[in-house]
Amino acid sequence: MTDEIVVVPGDGIGQEVVPAAIDVLEALDIEFAFREVDAGDAVKEATGEALPKETREAVASADATLFGAAGETAADVILPLRRAVDSFVNVRPARAYPGVDALRPETDLVFLRENTEGVYAGHEARLTDDVSTLTRVVTKNASQRLAEYACEYAAEEGFTVAHKANVMRETDGLFRDTVLEVADEHDVPADTVLMDAFATHVCLDPSQFDVVVCPNLAGDVLSDLAAGLVGGLGLLPSANVGPERGVFEPVHGTAPDIAGQGVANPTAALLSAAMMLEFLGHESEAEAVETAVEGVLSDGPHTPDLGGSASTAEVTHAVIDRLS
Ligand code: NAI
Ligand code: MG
Repeated sequence: MTDEIVVVPGDGIGQEVVPAAIDVLEALDIEFAFREVDAGDAVKEATGEALPKETREAVASADATLFGAAGETAADVILPLRRAVDSFVNVRPARAYPGVDALRPETDLVFLRENTEGVYAGHEARLTDDVSTLTRVVTKNASQRLAEYACEYAAEEGFTVAHKANVMRETDGLFRDTVLEVADEHDVPADTVLMDAFATHVCLDPSQFDVVVCPNLAGDVLSDLAAGLVGGLGLLPSANVGPERGVFEPVHGTAPDIAGQGVANPTAALLSAAMMLEFLGHESEAEAVETAVEGVLSDGPHTPDLGGSASTAEVTHAVIDRLS
């Protein structure tokens, strides 16, 4: 059966790394029906809307979506896209790879980030010129859905819940207690850590953590921190997983400082495509792409962010060569 993939390159280096991922997918022995649609700053400038209805509808009905990045309109694009697939978890692996100069080469983490609420629930207000407020939403239902996923994902090794329930007693209290309850029901080992202390511990010794379950904002920030431990944002993929569909995207943004030069590191986008393959049930192809990417990270060529001088296209071709 043909997988229907919606492709949303977006802005900046999204226009460079997403086509690289498509080239790699096309080198596999799988039949995909790709459909490219627009989102982001450029389409907003042209039409007034950062996320055209056509794009949202395409994402809501495709088997999976490969997204690049959006610039200033990122929140107007990615939050509705996550909702369009009812994504309740953002899976963010952060691994140090042989051949890449990492601050902490022993890092091998996966963040499972709550993807629908917390401070990103959209309840922000400007009360007066000088006073603004934000309502943080945590529900038992969203915490349970995330925890169920975490129990399946980390059934053997268990996970750590990062929270701040000592201060946010009601919201993070509910989050922590619900996740621990579900872990207990499934006999999955789970421990907890205060998220600020986690930031220090993970820098000093990332090897003590494995799978980390976090509220939305904490997962966003802590996974970017982990990107710094493993060699930069050009390396981190992510999966917005819903019950039936998913949106797969590099963790990084549009990288305006290097956009248009053809030197963006395609690794994060290629690994996001590998996560998409796994989600669609193409496990062996997912593994093949991962192995090819790891091989290129180990032996080169490397883009400038990793100290090399190769272009996006050269790295992509090196990955494709290893696939065949
Ligand atoms: P960024 O991730 O775009 O860039 C941060 C730094 O990392 C830059 O120095 C950039 O050159 C480097 N970098 C990122 N990806 C790279 C890659 N693949 N290869 C080589 N170097 C890479 O984050 P920044 O600068 O904070 O945001 C830029 C724009 O992107 C903003 O408009 C922001 O709103 C948007 N953004 C969008 C996101 C999304 O669409 N999901 C996520 C984060 C930011
Ligand atoms: Mg982020």
